[in-house]
Amino acid sequence: MKVLCFGSLNIDYVYDVPHFVRGGETLASRSLHAYTGGKGLNQSVALARAGMKVYHAGAIGEDGTFLLELLREAGVNTEHVEQLKDVRTGHAIIQKDESGNNCILLYGGANQSITRQQIDRTLAAFSAGDALVLQNEISELGYLVERAEAAGMTIVLNPSPMDDSLPPLLGSVDYLLLNEIEAAQLLHIPEASAPEEMAKRLQAQFPGSTILLTVGAQGSLYAGEETILRQSAVPVQVMDTTAAGDTYTGFFLSGVLGGHGPAWAMKYASVAAAIAVTRPGAAPSIPDREEVLSRMKEI
Ligand code: RIB
Repeated sequence: MKVLCFGSLNIDYVYDVPHFVRGGETLASRSLHAYTGGKGLNQSVALARAGMKVYHAGAIGEDGTFLLELLREAGVNTEHVEQLKDVRTGHAIIQKDESGNNCILLYGGANQSITRQQIDRTLAAFSAGDALVLQNEISELGYLVERAEAAGMTIVLNPSPMDDSLPPLLGSVDYLLLNEIEAAQLLHIPEASAPEEMAKRLQAQFPGSTILLTVGAQGSLYAGEETILRQSAVPVQVMDTTAAGDTYTGFFLSGVLGGHGPAWAMKYASVAAAIAVTRPGAAPSIPDREEVLSRMKEI
């Protein structure tokens, strides 16, 4: 079984701020750092550092070579990443507040230049039983899901950022990994709803999907056809929550696709995400398998 992550590659510009800027307000940031990021790239790095062989597909501009280098250093196969002329690499403007929380503004750039031809070229190298990991930061996502389903691939989706294009695709998804904000948007209920209720309702609404719901400090929930599992969050001093969800996704998938049960995979993922939030940046904050396994023994 091969794992293909087809998704965004971003340059993350992270601004440290006392609070998120409000409409009409001018706010001075305290510092600026540029990191490798993008939900797609982060998930590929997490899968690779968790011990999976992973292929990444996507697009960057000529200014994005360092993103390719980071993927290769992590052991990710990049033969399906295309470097385009006349388009900038995607980027994210991230405000990080004093509690380590963030808000993210995306510029799609090359991520929005994915074509049906690139999708066809890439999927030709994969077959039934291979896994496809997706987020919602690239163009032609609907076509990609349609072709992957026709090819018999296992489809994993992190529906972020949420928009109206996603609900029609969800009937084709095998694993749906999302946070409470995305769950509330999908279910049209308040974000403060009880997590277990959200997970059950998602499973009922999308019965072909296994649901993984992450709820920050409240941990995570798994909802399968007849099973509900809960995993508490590992308490840590939070520095930067960027890519915590991507880290969880990569480590959880590496666990279940690698043959472990969902309870073990949830613990593996929770420990990995807890380590990631103690470090700055997106991809640079993602730990490797050895560090996570060693921390799991202490818990
Ligand atoms: O999930 C975090 C990621 O979201 C950041 O790295 C940013 O690039 C956006 O894609």
